[in-house]
Amino acid sequence: MEVNRIYKGNCINKLTELESNSVDLVYFDPPFFTQKKHSLVTRDESKKYEFSDSWDSLNDYLDLIEACLIECKRVLKETGSVFLHCDKVASHYIRLTLDKVFGMKNFQSEIIWSYKRWSNSKKGLLNSHQNIYFYSKSKHFKFNQYYTNYAATTNIDQILQDRKKTAKGKSIYKTDEDGNIVLGKEKKGVPLSDTWEIPYLNPKAKERVGYPTQKPVLLLKEIIKIVTDEGDLVVDPFCGSGTTCVAAKSMDRNFIGIDASQDAVELANRRLEEMIITDSALLNKGYNSYLEKSEYEMAILKSIDALPVQRNSGIDGFLRKHFNEKPVPVKIQGKRETLNDAIEKLEKSCQGKEFELKIVIQTRKESRGNRLFELESDIEIIQSQELIIEELKEKSTVPNTVYN
Ligand SMILES: C[S@@+](CC[C@H](N)C(=O)[O-])C[C@H]1O[C@@H](n2cnc3c(N)ncnc32)[C@H](O)[C@@H]1O
Repeated sequence: MEVNRIYKGNCINKLTELESNSVDLVYFDPPFFTQKKHSLVTRDESKKYEFSDSWDSLNDYLDLIEACLIECKRVLKETGSVFLHCDKVASHYIRLTLDKVFGMKNFQSEIIWSYKRWSNSKKGLLNSHQNIYFYSKSKHFKFNQYYTNYAATTNIDQILQDRKKTAKGKSIYKTDEDGNIVLGKEKKGVPLSDTWEIPYLNPKAKERVGYPTQKPVLLLKEIIKIVTDEGDLVVDPFCGSGTTCVAAKSMDRNFIGIDASQDAVELANRRLEEMIITDSALLNKGYNSYLEKSEYEMAILKSIDALPVQRNSGIDGFLRKHFNEKPVPVKIQGKRETLNDAIEKLEKSCQGKEFELKIVIQTRKESRGNRLFELESDIEIIQSQELIIEELKEKSTVPNTVYN
């Protein structure tokens, strides 16, 4: 079977064409047993992609997974690994199937891929992770160790000092006979953990091709980097839009993609010709860099029972309770903003949206009419508690009596 190609067909049949002991990594993201058809229309609405995830029984589904795993094990090198992507619907059955085919002793990790979601969840916890099982073919599996930074809570002693066990087995910091601290060996950081926070592709990401359940290339790159080297062969038997193949190609690995859908095969080939990988600013900068509200602003929003909104210069939050069944945007007058500036910014952010009530919180004393023109606006202005107190104090100050 030629490498660096996408094949159309049932993966069980196609995998039999692959030579035994020839593959370094198999990643697969099969249907998750959702018992529905997945479909999605491309952004320009020119094409609808779909695949079926409806099964007569759970056994039918697991039979396919098991048959695929048996072939995966055969084609993997002794140093190779399989990564199976699933979610809470069938993960517990899939893990048993993996144990059956690969053996419990070859279980390496359950990776939790977690991401932030914005959703009005139905009753229960908001689902915001998927599971990726990592099994090796043998104990001789290839693994490239990566390290991450220490946590903010790690203290300098934990980083620098060596440890030893007391007679009772308690772990303590090592000291020499004079009681001086013994510095530990060079540390590279914290080994990459099995919980990965990688953003889901946002609806506007250029990488998004409109294929249902498309995974981010960044997620696949993480997997590929830890168990393969340049020139290795990566196989995805349920490749869909070709995400794994795009990631493998961008990292100078060889690849083989298989999918039962002709549309998917054509799409994957197009993606491989013009590779678009969206860098995640969120991943580079970290979630905390997006939290830009000051403690002062958070306190104001809390005092009026509003939820904060980040990264919008015109709206700082929304009242938790709607007014006339519409959300109520709130803008806090900034330290360097006139009241008119604040009103203008809120109006701009509200353009095209019909709110019944819009609020500016005035934080500094000033008259509104200090502009050449007055803004036409139905925004309600409320003074912050601080400003109300300031004005109260001013009013109650008795003017100095002047004696002749
Ligand atoms: C969850 S999607 C994969 C999405 C992919 N990871 C991506 O990022 O675009 C599952 C894919 O499996 C394919 N599929 C379902 N049964 C198959 C089978 N027996 N053999 C090959 N492909 C199959 C579907 O056509 C679908 O594209």
